[in-house]
Amino acid sequence: MQFIDTHSHVLAYCDDGAPNWEISLEMLRDAENDGIAELVCTPHILSRGELENETELWSLYKELLKLAENAQIAIKIHMGSELYVYPELKIEKRISTLAQNGKYFLAEFPMALIPEFVPQLFFDLLMEGKTPVIAHPERNGGFIENPKKAYEFVERGSLLQLTAGSLLGIFGRTIQTVAEQLIDANLVHIIATDAHNLSSRPLRLKEAFLYVQEKWGDERARALCYENPKKLIQGQQINIGEPVSINFSNKKSLTGKIKSLFLR
Ligand SMILES: [Fe+2]
Repeated sequence: MQFIDTHSHVLAYCDDGAPNWEISLEMLRDAENDGIAELVCTPHILSRGELENETELWSLYKELLKLAENAQIAIKIHMGSELYVYPELKIEKRISTLAQNGKYFLAEFPMALIPEFVPQLFFDLLMEGKTPVIAHPERNGGFIENPKKAYEFVERGSLLQLTAGSLLGIFGRTIQTVAEQLIDANLVHIIATDAHNLSSRPLRLKEAFLYVQEKWGDERARALCYENPKKLIQGQQINIGEPVSINFSNKKSLTGKIKSLFLR
């Protein structure tokens, strides 16, 4: 089974991901061993200034392609970004959409909450034909406390991307529970690694695939780890059927735990 990873910090010298080319190459070899056939480099972009300065990121990407070829790594490496949301965010640079598909962009929220301006921002961008893919909702305080919000975002046209390690419990039981609640409700469209390194934030996409296969079936596992990611990088329509409305809140049962997650 082959996988496609649409969220990776494998590109060195640009964020808190791979610190040097050696680690980049080790991460790529690790990805190859995990069965990843294609991946998208998604360096953090935290401000409009960084977005304006995409040239440097493209140079790093070209360097990585060269090094990977010399190292005979057979993964198809694409370029993209993980865009931290701000009210004036525009999706107009080459780097803004994943693999330059022109449609899907990866959006990151602050960890503790969902900013109030986001629904309007996403509405405006959707009207322009740009679809938000929300990175790791299961690790965001707003979604953890109130998973109903995930349903609202999906109903309005966003897609949700889960981190493989969340499902395997590397961020703790609370985040794992929320990840499972979101899959149960048919609110997850893609699973990706969000790999930053080989130790604390490794890939583990194959393990996540097997976990989904065991719990939700083969069809769902293939859709989340290969078919939907493929459509994503090609800019094609992704359909996972009707999301299930969530009628519960985690607020009461998890309040103490949620606070402890973000006060570290
Ligand atoms: Fe990330």
